[in-house]
Amino acid sequence: MTTLLYVSTLLLLAALTVNGCPPSDRAALLAFKAALHEARFGIFNSWTGSDCCHNWKGVSCDQESGKVADINLRGEAQDPIFEKAGRTGYMTGTISPAICNLKRLSSFTLADWKGITGQIPACISSLPFLRILDLVGNKLSGQIPADIGRLHRLTVLNIADNLVSGRIPRTLTNLSSLMHLDLRNNRLSGDLPPDFGRLRMLSRALLSRNYFSGSIPSSISKIYRLADLDLSVNSLSGSIPESLGRMAVLATLNLDVNKLSGNIPASLFNSGISNLNLSRNSFEGNLPDVFGPRSYFTMLDLSYNNFRGPIPKSLSEASYIGHLDLSHNHLCGRIPAGSPFDHLEASSFVYNDCLCGKPLKAC
Ligand SMILES: *[C@@H]1O[C@H](CO)[C@@H](O)[C@H](O)[C@H]1NC(C)=O
Ligand SMILES: *[C@@H]1O[C@H](CO)[C@@H](O)[C@H](O)[C@H]1NC(C)=O
Repeated sequence: MTTLLYVSTLLLLAALTVNGCPPSDRAALLAFKAALHEARFGIFNSWTGSDCCHNWKGVSCDQESGKVADINLRGEAQDPIFEKAGRTGYMTGTISPAICNLKRLSSFTLADWKGITGQIPACISSLPFLRILDLVGNKLSGQIPADIGRLHRLTVLNIADNLVSGRIPRTLTNLSSLMHLDLRNNRLSGDLPPDFGRLRMLSRALLSRNYFSGSIPSSISKIYRLADLDLSVNSLSGSIPESLGRMAVLATLNLDVNKLSGNIPASLFNSGISNLNLSRNSFEGNLPDVFGPRSYFTMLDLSYNNFRGPIPKSLSEASYIGHLDLSHNHLCGRIPAGSPFDHLEASSFVYNDCLCGKPLKAC
C-alpha cells in the first residue's frame, strides 16, 4: 500500500514536471535567445527540445505553476565551465521584449556579458512576480522604464556598469520591497527623488559614478535598514543632512567627489558609521570635536576639502581609527600625541596650512 502510494506520488510529480514548459513560455525564450549571440561557451546550445524547464542552461521553472520562473545567465561566475575556458563570457545582441511574455518570471539575471546593447524593455514593469532584476555589466542604454514602480515585489534592482541615462523615474520610490539598489557607473542625471525615504526596505543604495545633481534628500535618513549609501562621483551640491548621522545601521557613507559644501554635521563623527569618505568636496569650517567611544572608523577620508582649524583633540577618544586622511585642507596646529596618531603616517596630514608635530616636522 505504501509502495503504491509512493509510486503514484512519483508518477504525479513526474506528470507535473513533464508538463513543465508551457508552449508560450518556450516561444518567449526562443525569441529571447534569437536576439542574443553568445559563441564562447555555447550557452544557448542547450536551449533545444520542447521541455524548457529541464536542461536549458540558466532556465528554471516554478514547481507549482510549471512556468518559467528564473533566467540566470552570468558571464562571470564560479561555474566550472568558465574556469575551464579560462576567460570571461561575451554576449552581444539585445534583450527581446518577448521576455515580458514570461508572466511568472521571478528572477531575471543577464549579468556581466559586456556586449549586450539596446534598452531595458519597458514592458518589464508588467511582470508582477519579478523579485530580482540583475543586468549589471553590459552596454545597455536608454532609460530606466518609467513605470518600474509597479514591480511591488522587486527586492533587487541592479543595472550597474551600463550606459543607462535619463533621470530616476518618479515611480521608483514605489518599490516598497526593494532591498538592494545598484545604479553605479551609468549616465544617470537629474535630482535624486525627494521622497527617496519611501524605500523603507532598502539596505544598500549604490548610485556612484553618475551625473546626479541637486541635494541629498533628507528623507534618506528615514530608511531604517540602510547600511550602505554610496553617492560618490556625482555632482551633488548643498550640505549633508544632519539626520544622516543618526541612522540606526548606516555603516558606509561615501560622498567623495561631489560639490557638497558647508559644515559637516557633528553627528557623523559620533555614529555607527565606520567607513566615511568625504574626500574631494568643498566642505569647510572646523572639524567637530565630538569623537568618543562610539566613534569607530576603519576608514575616515576628509582629504581635499577646505577644513580649517585644529585637529580635534577628541579624536584620541575614538575607539578605533584605522585609515585616516586629513590631507589637502587648511588645518593648522599641533598634531595630538598618543593613539591613533602614533600609527599614522605623514601622508595623513600633508598639504595643510600649518600642521606640525609627529609625524610631520616639529612645531
Ligand atoms: C506610484 O508612484 C506614482 C508617482 O510617484 C504615484 O502617483 C502612484 O500613486 C504610486 N502608485 C502606488 C501604487 O503607490
Ligand atoms: C575616498 O575617495 C577618494 C575619491 O574617490 C578616493 O581616491 C580614495 O581612495 C577614497 N579613500 C579611501 C580610503 O578609500
